[in-house]
Amino acid sequence: MKSEILVDVSRATAKAVGPEHGVTPREVQELEPRISEAHQKLQEERAQGKYGFWDLYKDEQTFASVKETAEAFLSKQIDNLVILGIGGSALGTKALATALKPPFYNLLSRRARKNKPRLFVMDNIDPTTFKAMMRICPPSKTIYNVISKSGETAETMAQLMIIVELIEKKLGKSEMKNHVVVTTNPRGAGAKPSLLHPVADTYSLHEFTVPLNVGGRFSVFSPVGMFPAALLGMDLNAFRQGCHAMDTKCQTPELLENPAYLCAAYQYIADVRKGKRISVMMPYADGLADVADWYRQLWAESLGKRFALDGTEVYAGQTPVKALGVTDQHSQIQLYREGPNDKIITVLEVQRFDVTLRIPNTLEHIPELEYLRNATMNKLLAAELTGTIDALKISQRPVIRIRLPRINEYFVAQLLYMLEVETAMAGRLYNVQTFDQPGVEEGKKIARQLMGADK
Ligand code: PA5
Repeated sequence: MKSEILVDVSRATAKAVGPEHGVTPREVQELEPRISEAHQKLQEERAQGKYGFWDLYKDEQTFASVKETAEAFLSKQIDNLVILGIGGSALGTKALATALKPPFYNLLSRRARKNKPRLFVMDNIDPTTFKAMMRICPPSKTIYNVISKSGETAETMAQLMIIVELIEKKLGKSEMKNHVVVTTNPRGAGAKPSLLHPVADTYSLHEFTVPLNVGGRFSVFSPVGMFPAALLGMDLNAFRQGCHAMDTKCQTPELLENPAYLCAAYQYIADVRKGKRISVMMPYADGLADVADWYRQLWAESLGKRFALDGTEVYAGQTPVKALGVTDQHSQIQLYREGPNDKIITVLEVQRFDVTLRIPNTLEHIPELEYLRNATMNKLLAAELTGTIDALKISQRPVIRIRLPRINEYFVAQLLYMLEVETAMAGRLYNVQTFDQPGVEEGKKIARQLMGADK
């Protein structure tokens, strides 16, 4: 039997950190009918196809076409993959690449990269960074995947306009189709037309679609995340299996058996009953650092809402914060232990790293280092994790512990899928519209006006 992801909430209970800060069995019990009701509602919405993230992994045809297209582009010996996109169009790819490609991936030789391209995720419009990318990535050796669900995001469009000019100048218009792939909303079917459609038409570009019922931050298992993943040589089948395994686990309304609902319930109670207005995610693995970044957007945009579903003003949502173990032990833990007790901390733990690194028997003349000699970095990391969560317990700070057996496609998919379901459940508990982001739209509108649009 395959080992699975484990969720341990025991350190977020009243028994562990006291009733003022930890969740009591009674509070969980009281929430259970709401969880059952929310579960019912989510299942109904899923069956109606209202929100599509649940079933993306089942779309065999799309996965096959993503793979086939990626293979065709890879056969052209491209050196660089540049993602033009922002928010949900970029963070999933970042999370997957950091987790599943080797550290310092872009610095490896082509051979060590197994003939796969380097990755540059351009999710900002800082001109210095963009220009630097243009210098590093000659268009003749680069594929640009422009990703925008709405097909109108100013940042992404500006990036694309620069790249179009570059390709036209350096390679000629006819080469555009060999270097640019579009991922955007579907044509027709009630969708607002994407500005990327006429671009794709003009240059005969390959076009992937993001289903209409899938929001940007829930789109990692659509071509938004899967096409870059395929180009980088990730195992798409293992993603699908991981999603399937977690989906199966998340079918039950039983809190103790449903890891996503369990996390949602604890985070929700911690927020509304215990004043834990901040949700920290702290992976103890560099590979999972960008999962925390991805989660930050998911949690913030989905739950940070002014209005409840019934129109009352609620100003819901915890503030998500990302941290990294052990690095941030030397930066944040002082605050987490002794500052305001307003946080619930989710620690991500990896049971087995791919590498074991022994600390050698050197510096013998320093007896104070004896405890490190002949130990491993892995053991030190594990000890620091245990030390930190034990110390947090002493300070009565609630911690949820999520343990991945390993970092690979199967378990990373499980983790991301679980966090998506957790967010969907949390949205129901807060009684907000999880899947929109009206607060983002206003700023976009003002910026567009300042740039002279809508004249
Ligand atoms: O989750 C979301 O919907 C947003 O974060 C979007 O992904 C982000 O605003 C980018 O939008 P688009 O993909 O339409 O360019």
